[in-house]
Amino acid sequence: MFTQRHLLGIESLTPEGITEILDLADHYVKHNLKQNKHLDVLAGLTQINMFFENSTRTQASFEIAGKRLGADVMNMSMQASSIKKGETLIDTALTLNAMHPDLLVVRHPHSGAVKLLAEKVNCAVLNAGDGRHEHPTQALLDALTIRRSKGRLHRLTIAICGDIAHSRVARSNIFLLGKMENRIRLIGPKTLMPAGIEKLGVEVTDDMVEGLKDVDVVMMLRLQKERMDGGFIPSEREYYHRWGLDPAKLANAKPDAIVMHPGPMNRGVEIDGTLADDINRSVIQEQVEMGVAVRMAVMDLLVRNLRKSKAGDLDA
Ligand code: NCD
Repeated sequence: MFTQRHLLGIESLTPEGITEILDLADHYVKHNLKQNKHLDVLAGLTQINMFFENSTRTQASFEIAGKRLGADVMNMSMQASSIKKGETLIDTALTLNAMHPDLLVVRHPHSGAVKLLAEKVNCAVLNAGDGRHEHPTQALLDALTIRRSKGRLHRLTIAICGDIAHSRVARSNIFLLGKMENRIRLIGPKTLMPAGIEKLGVEVTDDMVEGLKDVDVVMMLRLQKERMDGGFIPSEREYYHRWGLDPAKLANAKPDAIVMHPGPMNRGVEIDGTLADDINRSVIQEQVEMGVAVRMAVMDLLVRNLRKSKAGDLDA
């Protein structure tokens, strides 16, 4: 069961909690195909989206999800220049809290910042990505995409490739796919592989040909140049040659392997543009579609938990 008050990461979820979220998301996928998408699940509630880092799809996805469920949604633009130290963040949290929001969706460049904020407010907090730490709704939407495409979410071999070191998407996926008993292979240059990552129960290699052998899922990651201070990769050309996904490298995977990417993509750097658009292999657009449904499911469940905790039947 998913009994949490906040969604701060995947690490603390149980396999049953994950399955409950995905099952409800499946229901919202169907609902989202209807012409009239409006529901009253969050009617009367206020959702504030606070993005301290740039975002296109995640912010839009949370906004659409909240609106479809009937919430009043507000986007606060938090310019990079306003990012200060912890105290400022807490001040912001207290100010917001005084406006009585019910759901707070937060993206922040510092790992742990969203948790810190959650400790100071009375509403449900959703982590929309904190530094290199976690991006739980991304891992959940990836899981839903895999489950729908492969018919199951266990005993699969999944390769996560590229800039592992800077990726909260990789961390959340390692936790989620590991909990569901999949085999995970991390592939990328040694400079972009966090030391000791094997402790999370994953296999590690810097060779795409070896790493992609017989995998069911190939998950590519963006080269996060904004989190690098130089010297991590030889050149983009060399990077593409060794770690960029193209049809020749993909031929090592299972013939029905799917290709994923959380976006935004650097075409010709981590992935071949034609392959990314190949609807027979790539599920990148499905990932975006699943994102809205997953966020609807998570917000629905968090509000149910908030109501239960107010009624005194839940202490989580
Ligand atoms: C990811 C993120 O912000 O961590 N993007 C996303 O949410 N769609 C991955 C990335 O920025 O590369």
